[in-house]
Amino acid sequence: MGELSERLDACIAVENMIAEIYLDFGNRFPGAMSFFRELSKEEENHAAILAIGKEFDRRGKLPEDAVPESMPHISGSLNFIKGVKERIKGREITLKDALEMSLSMEETTVESYVQEILMKETDSRVIKSLQRLLLEERSHIDRLKEFMKERGL
Ligand SMILES: [Fe+2]
Ligand SMILES: [Fe+2]
Repeated sequence: MGELSERLDACIAVENMIAEIYLDFGNRFPGAMSFFRELSKEEENHAAILAIGKEFDRRGKLPEDAVPESMPHISGSLNFIKGVKERIKGREITLKDALEMSLSMEETTVESYVQEILMKETDSRVIKSLQRLLLEERSHIDRLKEFMKERGL
């Protein structure tokens, strides 16, 4: 197993953990349930796309720079998301808190990298085929900010 697949695994763990947290937020705030469920589904989709990337890597077809972030940066994102999970466990939070935490999760290295790589212009056929699997077109940060504005938060 190469270094690249190790980085991909850590990114997949980040995506799945964020998906779980968005689902939790959706259950806490019925008025925002469909919004968070959609984000959650898209994070699961990111994890699935990265898993397919791993498959390409196994066959030696994923460009080495497909995951430009170094392991310490990726672990930093993972620890940050774990911290959010710990902070909300069994605790009451407001919708504003949830949205602010969502924004901070979206600003982590892994989330910005996935957003970037999946949107960027590329000559790589492999990356292009992964990009085709993307469900959403607008960034989560934009959508979170818009939602907060709509709700006056
Ligand atoms: Fe994501
Ligand atoms: Fe996201």
